[in-house]
Amino acid sequence: MEALKFAVQCRGGLPAAWVAALAAIALANSPAHAAGDAGRGQVLYQGCQDCHSIEKNDVGPMHKGVVGRVAGTAPGYNYSPALRNAKITWTEQNLDKWLTDPQSFIPGTKMFYEVQDPRDRADIIAFLKERAH
Ligand code: HEC
Repeated sequence: MEALKFAVQCRGGLPAAWVAALAAIALANSPAHAAGDAGRGQVLYQGCQDCHSIEKNDVGPMHKGVVGRVAGTAPGYNYSPALRNAKITWTEQNLDKWLTDPQSFIPGTKMFYEVQDPRDRADIIAFLKERAH
């Protein structure tokens, strides 16, 4: 949102095309958890299923109840110390940061899988919210 503010403040001094471009950047960077499509998320979730399922621990922990759950607490799963001690809750916002880059969100985690597209992340989170409770 900084870019948008900048664009508004500088409106007098900048060509209109610039202002539009900055506003577009601000929009593209705004948090993406508002309008997730769970149906599309279900398809994308297939990429997670190499390691995860909703109901059972696998390579990764089960996802049942993950939205709103405290990180590192799926019963019976052997977490990395990094995730077990992370002391965060899986809000939509934290899930978005995690899926963007787990290694920089929780350094030392043993999950290596990134979802680059903000819309994909929003859709996967919408799917988890709807189906994994
Ligand atoms: C290559 C295997 C792999 C893939 C693919 C993968 N994960 Fe993971 N995931 C893991 C592992 C391993 C952990 C446990 C990390 C740790 O203990 O540090 C984990 C942990 C998690 C956690 C933390 C859960 C908790 O109980 O705290 C979430 C949330 C998560 N993954 C979501 C996803 C989603 C959503 C996808 C698909 C977009 C995905 N993962 C894809 C391996 C994977």
